[in-house]
Amino acid sequence: MRVLDGVEEAVLVQNAHPDGNLVEILLWADALREAGATWVAAVVPYLGYARQDKVFEAGEALSIRPVAKALQRGLDAFVTVDVHNPAILPFFDIPAESVSGAPAIARHVKGRVDAVLSPDEGGKERAEEVAELLGVPWDFLEKSRLDARRVVVQPKSLAVEGKAVVIMDDIISTGGTIVAATESLRKNGASRVVAACTHGLFAEGALEKLKVCDEVVATDTVENPVAVTSVAREVAEAITGLR
Ligand code: R5P
Repeated sequence: MRVLDGVEEAVLVQNAHPDGNLVEILLWADALREAGATWVAAVVPYLGYARQDKVFEAGEALSIRPVAKALQRGLDAFVTVDVHNPAILPFFDIPAESVSGAPAIARHVKGRVDAVLSPDEGGKERAEEVAELLGVPWDFLEKSRLDARRVVVQPKSLAVEGKAVVIMDDIISTGGTIVAATESLRKNGASRVVAACTHGLFAEGALEKLKVCDEVVATDTVENPVAVTSVAREVAEAITGLR
């Protein structure tokens, strides 16, 4: 008996990075169909290519569009977590949803922080969501990017003096954004800084740089040493809702 015989419904859970993983999803979806599965969904917790959500320079691909089109082949539903830009979800012609990583982070820091900060204005809804779940105030820092690796965070009149603050971001990559935000919060008198993110990519020795924070936490969308809280509950709810 082949291992897929008798499987009628299946949920594939696989990140789309590196590229070999993307191919694996395509192959598994095809094999499941061949075996007779009638409903196949994919959970891609960290959707690679999602940051190329527009053509930034002439001649570039709008990368997430062909990736979405390829991924949906053989699938009936698609779920990801904290996609960089939800406006890309209509590239999927099947039901597609991005669930929030905020509840998982809130569960982990509950009772231990006094305020939630987004490192930039773009992430303020995420910070607000965590803050509402915790019942604490929230705000955002004003960030100006100098180049791909360097950012400056303009001091804001935040009431963080003596407070334990969690900085909530969707992605930590090089860590530059969080380091700058942490320095700003320390200058403003924060007593404790927790760096939190949904997707901990931690490129270029980021975890070493992030030792300026008191604690670094991430969800389990990407394997890493600080993936301490799980998005499984929210993902399972989303998949159930799409069936
Ligand atoms: C920016 O739009 C994102 O929300 C993150 O702030 C950014 O990707 C973090 O990158 P890095 O860790 O390299 O500063």
